[in-house]
Amino acid sequence: MTFENVSFSHDGEHRVLDGVDLTLAPGTTTALVGPSGAGKSTLASLLPRFWDPDEGTVRVGGKDLRDLAPEEIYRRMSFVFQDVRLLRDTVRANLLIARPDATDEQLADAARRARIHDRITELPRGYDSVVGEDARFSGGEAQRLSIARAMLADTPSSSWTRRPRTRTPSRRRPCRTPCRSSRTAAPCW
Ligand SMILES: Nc1ncnc2c1ncn2[C@@H]1O[C@H](COP(=O)(O)OP(=O)(O)O)[C@@H](O)[C@H]1O
Ligand SMILES: [Mg+2]
Repeated sequence: MTFENVSFSHDGEHRVLDGVDLTLAPGTTTALVGPSGAGKSTLASLLPRFWDPDEGTVRVGGKDLRDLAPEEIYRRMSFVFQDVRLLRDTVRANLLIARPDATDEQLADAARRARIHDRITELPRGYDSVVGEDARFSGGEAQRLSIARAMLADTPSSSWTRRPRTRTPSRRRPCRTPCRSSRTAAPCW
């Protein structure tokens, strides 16, 4: 993933990001460290395209994010946010969002790695328990579910299918994201 001369302002006046150049190499881990309000979350938010840069380009696998369908971005990247929201649906459905064809074994493996499998199996209906009805998760548990979801997605960052440039979302409005379920109005993250 690369940021090339990326600048961004939330209000059109104060530049939160100013000419950021950054290369995140495959197989590496990067931590952004800085004081509150420095722009860490803003920088990270450009990857799921909550916003697009005012200037510069964000690329993944060499492709401008703006040239990729939202579905492709979410198929190739996983996000674990601080404030996790879960769908009012089964635990299974919540985990399968990014990879609907995953087997039960893959599901359990991801949940084990996120240290949430045992908690799920102790629920009355296990993976078929409905979040908010059979199961109430704490913030930390919801975060573990979000981590399990990301692990299950097992997102690579190569081989892209190109798509013609289409409508670019307005700079200062959050983009439409593909994670809204048709079954519920609640955003999944
Ligand atoms: N949605 C928003 N609308 C307007 N200003 C914002 C928004 N999000 C963050 N900011 C402002 O952008 C700056 C950077 O915030 P942020 O990226 O959240 O910093 P960090 O994650 O490093 O604490 C702050 O001045 C913050 O007030
Ligand atoms: Mg932050």
